[in-house]
Amino acid sequence: MSSVNTTIQLITREEAEAAQEARAKPGRAQESCSTELAKGPWEFDLAEALAGTPGYGPGASSEDVAPAATPVQGQLPQEYKDASDAELEARILAAKAELGDRVVVLGHFYQRDEVVQFADFVGDSFQLANAAKTRTEAEAIVFCGVHFMAETADMLSAAHQSVILPNLAAGCSMADMADLPSVEACWAELEALYGTEPDADGRVPVIPVTYMNSSAALKAFCGEHGGIVCTSSNASTVLEWAFERGQRVLFFPDQHLGRNTAKAMGVPLEQMPLWNPRMPLGGNSQDAMENAKVVLWQGFCSVHKRFTVGQIEQARADFPGVRVIVHPECPMEVVDAADEAGSTDFILKAIQAAPDGTTFAIGTEINMVNRLAAQYPQHTIFCLDPVICPCSTMYRIHPGYLAWVLEGLLRGEVLNQITVPEATAVNARIALERMLAALPQAATKQTVPAGQPQSAARA
Ligand code: 13P
Ligand code: SF4
Repeated sequence: MSSVNTTIQLITREEAEAAQEARAKPGRAQESCSTELAKGPWEFDLAEALAGTPGYGPGASSEDVAPAATPVQGQLPQEYKDASDAELEARILAAKAELGDRVVVLGHFYQRDEVVQFADFVGDSFQLANAAKTRTEAEAIVFCGVHFMAETADMLSAAHQSVILPNLAAGCSMADMADLPSVEACWAELEALYGTEPDADGRVPVIPVTYMNSSAALKAFCGEHGGIVCTSSNASTVLEWAFERGQRVLFFPDQHLGRNTAKAMGVPLEQMPLWNPRMPLGGNSQDAMENAKVVLWQGFCSVHKRFTVGQIEQARADFPGVRVIVHPECPMEVVDAADEAGSTDFILKAIQAAPDGTTFAIGTEINMVNRLAAQYPQHTIFCLDPVICPCSTMYRIHPGYLAWVLEGLLRGEVLNQITVPEATAVNARIALERMLAALPQAATKQTVPAGQPQSAARA
């Protein structure tokens, strides 16, 4: 199967035969959400820098407004824009060979295949955080993921290591939906409402829990206020941790992960008010807040918001017996309608454990879904969303940027370094270390039969 990028190029250029072949397969995407995705990401670095209004790039939801402080990528040197895929591949391989153990390349499951092929380790955000912590021999960690992941790698890696994000515009619209001033303002309102005294069991009124998809400043806030970080692979373990220490939880920025996880643990929906940071008491009544067990921040992922119950119904109609697995960043109705919900690693393991000939409809990012379809040809695997719409920020990382930062290292230049100030990192590490001590869960909804454990490590 061709990569997501190749398919987008075909659809965009309307190279009839090849595109038709891709379209003819049942369950395969027929169109892309933006023809601009076929262009080099550098075209948008320039446009955004000039306009002074950085956005999230082609394919991003028009509802996602990037904050003014969103990092902008400077122009990639022309030689990398002009290079053919084959030339970039050869340059990346040569640079990696010369750098040897001095560099480790980490790749998130959602990265395009053209980048993932060079990763020494491919995984979900929890696994990549662990990888950053344990690969101490490398002086540089090149993180092919998004900004919050690179920040985390910087905070967990050793002092002698530098973390590089090949394209600084690779942020995360969900992470940007909660910022430190808004969370501090919310916290002040919660303290005024609940006080600060522990109950008879020693549980404080509120524990802050931030999803890994958040800025280092918010992780530091959690570290400072008795809170913790979670990923989608350990969210229920983390919520249990929090309920042992607190009467309720403030969960940010992803309302869906928070709601799906807490619901699966038995928290009633009426005890999960949604917090709108632009309204007093988050837009809730005093009664609703007093009764709250989990206060959910009003954030979401634009990629996972695209999945619908209608798509699941269509998949079941087209493929009777299909197994539907979705990521817990999907809305609750979608998680409820699916057979299973779990993190990216959960999805991978479920596919590995399934008997040959299983049909899967998957609700997560298209690069990962198509890669799984290619890696496990004994199954039929397709994305629930019929439109190809990759995570627009992950997609900003292209082999051209990877070649550029690796060749920079060869010259002794550390380009695009991500550095979290130590005053922030010291508290963020507390919340991260609490998370790393919490073991990943199988799933937020249902578990699949135990499969052969398989690390995502490639080297
Ligand atoms: P994972 O934690 O499953 O890797 O997901 C990260 C992410 O950004 C999902 O949108
Ligand atoms: Fe952020 Fe969603 Fe992209 Fe994950 S898939 S990095 S949550 S925008």
